[in-house]
Amino acid sequence: MDSKRYEEENTVPITERPNELTRDIDVGSAGDIVRILRQCDSQIFSGWKHFQSIYDEETIFAMEKVVEKAAEVLQQSGAVVLSGCGTSGRIAFFLAQKFSKLAKEQGLLASYEYIIAGGDIALFMSQEAPEDDWRKGQEDLAQVSSNKTRVLYIGITCGLSAPYVAGQLDYCMNHPDVFIPVLLGFNPVSQARRNVIEGWSKSFYDVACALQDYESGIILNPVVGPEAITGSSRMKGGSATKILLESILLKAHITVGKSSLMPGCIGTLHQFLLMYEHMYRATYLNHSSISKAVELAAKSLQCKGQVYYTGWGSSGFMGLLDASECVPTFSAHFDDIRGFLEGGYHTLKNEEGEYLLNGLTKLQISLRDFQESFLPNLTLHDTVTFICSEGNVIQQVRKLVNLTEKKGAHVIGIVCEKEKELSNVFRNKCLIELKQPSRHEQLFDGHLPVFDSILNQCLMEMSIKWILNAVSTGAHIVKGKVLGSFMIDLKVSNNKLFHRAVSIVSKFARVSQERSHLAVLQSIYRSDVVDSVLNQQVSQHVSIATAMDQVVPVAVLVATGKFNIESAVELLRTKTISHILKNCCFN
Ligand code: F6P
Repeated sequence: MDSKRYEEENTVPITERPNELTRDIDVGSAGDIVRILRQCDSQIFSGWKHFQSIYDEETIFAMEKVVEKAAEVLQQSGAVVLSGCGTSGRIAFFLAQKFSKLAKEQGLLASYEYIIAGGDIALFMSQEAPEDDWRKGQEDLAQVSSNKTRVLYIGITCGLSAPYVAGQLDYCMNHPDVFIPVLLGFNPVSQARRNVIEGWSKSFYDVACALQDYESGIILNPVVGPEAITGSSRMKGGSATKILLESILLKAHITVGKSSLMPGCIGTLHQFLLMYEHMYRATYLNHSSISKAVELAAKSLQCKGQVYYTGWGSSGFMGLLDASECVPTFSAHFDDIRGFLEGGYHTLKNEEGEYLLNGLTKLQISLRDFQESFLPNLTLHDTVTFICSEGNVIQQVRKLVNLTEKKGAHVIGIVCEKEKELSNVFRNKCLIELKQPSRHEQLFDGHLPVFDSILNQCLMEMSIKWILNAVSTGAHIVKGKVLGSFMIDLKVSNNKLFHRAVSIVSKFARVSQERSHLAVLQSIYRSDVVDSVLNQQVSQHVSIATAMDQVVPVAVLVATGKFNIESAVELLRTKTISHILKNCCFN
């Protein structure tokens, strides 16, 4: 390998690099932003530079191996455990529920389990710190697999970085009779995180290397290019996770069902992936209506209004998924963008059921909650998005749209194009029509409508995820929460985010990593002198920073050398960091 390529592969991990396509995403109009996101998402399918893409032989080979193992486990009445942190954990949950239902429909005794770092609350509200807890990762895995004899474990970490997942992979390798470990992420193993994990002797890189040498271990790590917003793995990382795992699990289920149900042939993994690529293209045919939705959501956020996603069925979960990650990414308030789902906890069927805030009040996530507690207080500054791919909910949708309109709030409809009557409810409003997936019965030899409808559903959800990611990201960009392609005001709420914050400060203040590290500490402790904390563990800094606002903006100003903590905080009271950096020259 030549030295340039070596360097490229071994420096900053791809998932933490800025994407060259989105360098100026912060200065575009809503329409420009959506076009740039469209280009950036295309890398999921085109691949990035010389790295292995989702369509390449190595990837397909690894996917086939997972299909084979999954089919084996499903047939042996074993368990498939899907695990991850943040968006990766939410997708683990979502897929476990979906495929568990399918397993039951097929009469299989195998089970699906999900693990999300931080527990079920992390499905709705981001919990970043548990990502760093490798021990808890092991305990959680031991618990869900306690009475299982054969487990296919799939650990999802887009950046090949989460200690929580590293602990679990290590646990699997220490219990070879039970576990078949799979690692899913989007960096080459050489770029897995090398920091030794706090309280352990290993880094993620050590664990990934061990897994590479482990006989039954599988690493599935195609590259989909850097994220549109640097490091925001909820976007392409989350989408690619959904695409790969759905393709794999669908194929495994069809394989298992085939012997008893049908004699025909099954589509290849390439064919499944092509379906998603087609859906990607179809989604962005809505460029102008998605741009309009970005404008409406941005208007709301700019006026301190709220953006609500209300949804039905599995498509509705995409709203919860999208909303939850806005808090750490943009330092948004939990209420800025919120998701509600018809049936709430009952529909989700999550392990822990209803979540009580402070042990007292139920966290409101159902459509009824929306209607009773939020709808009456809507104002003309709010935006309500209706996500409904099925026409059978038209009465409810019509009623809610009417009530919303009476309050003067903006309305966005995301509706399946074949549901003409439902589309009519959104006439003269912002309507995004979900294109029908292309015909794909040949993938199942035309015999199994159940698979046909699940694939349809998966593709629709994917389309909705792309749309909502564009709406929330675009709206925050317009609001000024992104500088260049960087989350200039991210929450410093775990080890990875602490280091990401240091890099961002170093970039914008144009100072060394050491200086920037110091400035981040000064900002966290709101003190110009931080000698006494220099030797503390990162977890100590994070535990304080998690509850704070504007850690990165303050640190950027302090790192320039032109401000002390007091003057930086003072200036940021009246101006955003984006505004200051765009309009002042500090050198
Ligand atoms: O730490 C925050 C975060 O980056 C989330 O945004 C993301 O969903 C989660 O971590 C998981 O990241 P990964 O999949 O790389 O482990």
